[in-house]
This record gives sequence, C-alpha cells and structure tokens, in this order.
Amino acid sequence: MEVVIAPAAELARLAADAVEGLLRSNPETVLGLATGSSPLAVYDELATRHKEGLSFARSRAFMLDEYVGLPADHPERYRNVIEKEFASRVDLPAGAVQGPDGLADDLPAACAAYEASIQDAGGVDLQILGIGTDGHIAFNEPGSSLASRTRIKTLTRQTREDNARFFGGSVDDVPRHCLTQGLATIMSARHLVLLASGRAKAEAVHQLVEGPISAMWPATIMQLHPHATVLVDDAAASRLQLADYYRQTYADKPTWQGL
Ligand code: GLP
Repeated sequence: MEVVIAPAAELARLAADAVEGLLRSNPETVLGLATGSSPLAVYDELATRHKEGLSFARSRAFMLDEYVGLPADHPERYRNVIEKEFASRVDLPAGAVQGPDGLADDLPAACAAYEASIQDAGGVDLQILGIGTDGHIAFNEPGSSLASRTRIKTLTRQTREDNARFFGGSVDDVPRHCLTQGLATIMSARHLVLLASGRAKAEAVHQLVEGPISAMWPATIMQLHPHATVLVDDAAASRLQLADYYRQTYADKPTWQGL
C-alpha cells in the first residue's frame, strides 16, 4: 500500500494523473466512481483535463453504491450526483455509467445483475474511493463480510448523520438502506485509489493503513490489495504512526514513477 501525504490539490492531481495515464494507454479503460465530497476535486481536475483534450469517449464507468428508494429525480440519488459532478462534464457516452438500481422491484436480482455487468466489462481498472468516519468504503459498514459482493445494506446511524448534510441537515431524510458493491467486488478492481481529508477521517485512515484487518474497519481489507494507493492530507494523516516514513518514501520516489 502506498501512502501519500500532501495538500488536497496535489492529491487530486495525482489521482487525475493515474486516470489520465490509464486512458492514454487504453481508451477503453473501465473506471470506478465514488460519491461523497472526497473525490470532487479529482472530478474537477478531470473535467479541466477533458477541456484540454482528454477523452472519455470510449471508456465506461461503474458506481460503488446507491441509496434504496430515492425517487429517480432526487438530487442526492447517487446516479444523479455522479451525472452532475462528473459524467456531464466529460464526454462519457450516454449509458456509459452504470450503478446499482436502488429503485428495482427485485433488489437482490438487481445486485446480481450489477455484479454480472462489472464482470462482462472485464472488471474495473481504477477504482476511486473515499472512506467513512467509521471506516466504511462504498457503503460497506462495520461488520460487513470481507468477502461480500454487491448487496443490500442497512446504513449505520453514524453514516446517516454524516450524510445528513446532503439532505438539508435532516438525518430522517437520509435513506436507511442502500445497495453497495461488496468488499470483494471492490477488491477485484485492478488499482484502488482512496482519498481522505480532514481530522474526522484520521482514525479511519490510521486503521485502514496500520490497523489489523477486521470487519470492524472494513477499509482494512485494502491491505490485502496488491495495488492500493491512499492519498491523504495532513489532517487525515495526523494519527498515522509511520507518517514520517510515508513522507520520506514519497519524497524519495523517482519522478517518473506514477501511482
Ligand atoms: C458515503 C459514500 C462513500 C464515501 C463516504 C465518505 O458514505 N457511500 O463512498 O466514501 O460517503 O464521504 P465523504 O467523502 O463526503 O466524506
């Protein structure tokens, strides 16, 4: 696992560099998209690069998760969030972004179909991730099976409180259920790039990088991934025991070597 501690703008550039590098070597790259505030600067950076000529026209993308039951036109439905924050700002073709269908009549069947779609696409090349304060990735809450696949989950009170800011501050308006890629689904992506900023994420980041692998901190499964990158600002890195080592390693990294 590579840990980079740097200002947020640099982290966004690094993540965008990794996406751009993939797209330049393979225009049919399959991206994994995350919602939340953490990836927004990456989407801004990619939208800027698109204006400068970077094309997504032959790529496709899969989303991590979706709330169950939010109306199709609800602004916080993750499909709409991704459309607004990213897809509409680049040249991804219509239908190139897929997500779990939180409005399906048969939710388990929708989850199985979603897994099949990812497999049919050849898997995700680069998965962008954020992390919840309780250590969740996508919506894999504490206690999630480390071998889980896309399924229905119940959100914790903590996550609903964290996300209430997107629902006018009202925790009661945050859905109680979601569909989420499982931890094993996420682990199937060929490169994981997780972004975190702010002190509220410091304990989750410490557990992710340095804690024992445990369903109590679901992101710790990333320690088993052969190509995982953790991009954090100073505040999110403030509880890392080996922060000096990560800083030194990054400072000594050859300039030609990407993430
Ligand atoms: C939600 C999303 C996660 C995201 C997390 C953190 O719970 N399902 O994918 O990582 O929020 O969000 P933020 O980046 O806004 O802190």
